[in-house]
Amino acid sequence: LDAARRAIATHTRLVPDFPQPGIAFKDLTPVLADPVGLASVVTALTHGCGDVDLVAGIDARGFLLGGAVARELGVGVLAVRKAGKLPPPVHTRTYDLEYGSAALEIPAGAVELQGRRILLIDDVLATGGTVVAAAQLLISAGATVSSIAVIMELAGLGGRAAVARELGETTAVHTLTTD
Ligand code: PRP
Repeated sequence: LDAARRAIATHTRLVPDFPQPGIAFKDLTPVLADPVGLASVVTALTHGCGDVDLVAGIDARGFLLGGAVARELGVGVLAVRKAGKLPPPVHTRTYDLEYGSAALEIPAGAVELQGRRILLIDDVLATGGTVVAAAQLLISAGATVSSIAVIMELAGLGGRAAVARELGETTAVHTLTTD
């Protein structure tokens, strides 16, 4: 975990006034492009996840991490995709964004999810809308989301509270850094 935190501190790129004036955006791209950064972050994301038998990665940066995390744990990976990308049949869940809404999808039937214990992976936890929608999709397909792991939590935006409210206190949220 220390190696991951050092890599994040060293390689995260600060982008002033993005996506809006006054916001300093933390770009994790160089962390994942660094060999030590990728390896240490992927290993740290597996810490404390308990027994899982599938990893789910959220569109789009969760894909980069999810496959590597799954390989490290010796399990398979499932992509939770933005709507309109997967062939039918799919399960869809719409969620609110700051302006408007978005939808996530998983395959219905192509992968057996009943009773699977899933580690859900994304890069950033902000309001929590994305991870909650992804988790609810997996749960409605019969899976258990044992934990959610992200590289960075933006603490002021209430994501952790949203997860506790919508998914219950038993879904552990594991973050490598908090901003
Ligand atoms: C970002 C990020 C998370 C989500 C977090 O993705 O990668 O998935 O926002 O925000 P939330 O906690 O408020 O839901 P984005 O929606 O920008 O999509 P992208 O990964 O395709 O760029």
